[in-house]
Amino acid sequence: MTIATTQAKKPRVTERKFRGVTMPTAGHKVIRKVKREGHEPSIHGTKLWRSSFLIMDYLHKHPPESVSNVLDAGCGWGITGIWCARKFGASVVSLDADPAVFPYLNAVAELNKVTTTPMVQRFEKLKKSQLAAFDLLVAADVCFWDELVKPVSKLIDRAIDAGVGQIVIADPERPTFHEMAEKVINRHGGDLIHWGLKGKLKATGALLVINNQ
Ligand SMILES: C[S@@+](CC[C@H](N)C(=O)[O-])C[C@H]1O[C@@H](n2cnc3c(N)ncnc32)[C@H](O)[C@@H]1O
Repeated sequence: MTIATTQAKKPRVTERKFRGVTMPTAGHKVIRKVKREGHEPSIHGTKLWRSSFLIMDYLHKHPPESVSNVLDAGCGWGITGIWCARKFGASVVSLDADPAVFPYLNAVAELNKVTTTPMVQRFEKLKKSQLAAFDLLVAADVCFWDELVKPVSKLIDRAIDAGVGQIVIADPERPTFHEMAEKVINRHGGDLIHWGLKGKLKATGALLVINNQ
């Protein structure tokens, strides 16, 4: 006699919770809706990249004394800035060169019941006078091409000159990130910290942290 068994189908995971925010996957209904509307990011702003989890975890464990104005540079779907808006009650500007990321960011922000201010701009074009408005600059996985080493390192130079109090850049440790980080640390100091998440949500990489108080 054979007994037929049917295995229960595992429900598809469409969101994860981390450090107080909800993070949808590409299969989440709010994300699928934005995709159906035809928005197609073209500079890799196509998901929530894991380096953003490293920044959230680091700032959760090392919260700045006070944070009012945050710039999330190369925001993509925007989770790092969204987390800062929730955690610190900060005003957040979410900046990206690719306008197609913002409908996704809005969907993620809505899920998390916060708003951030969108800014379509390239790192290269952001002026020192604009950077002076921020006390924290965060950027996750934004130095992934050779051509990005100079724009990202120059953005950090201008942020330091403008008096931005803290800068936290995360990366899965691409050679281009290390090249950029070395230039910045030689010019301004700062720490390169290896960081990893070991729970259900996995991520490893490095953080470039500059305290400019
Ligand atoms: C790998 S994604 C990371 C997105 C987000 N920070 C995250 O961790 O989920 C890189 C983002 O940087 C943006 N980007 C690339 N080059 C840029 C530039 N020169 N100026 C502004 N944004 C840029 C892309 O459009 C993309 O959204």
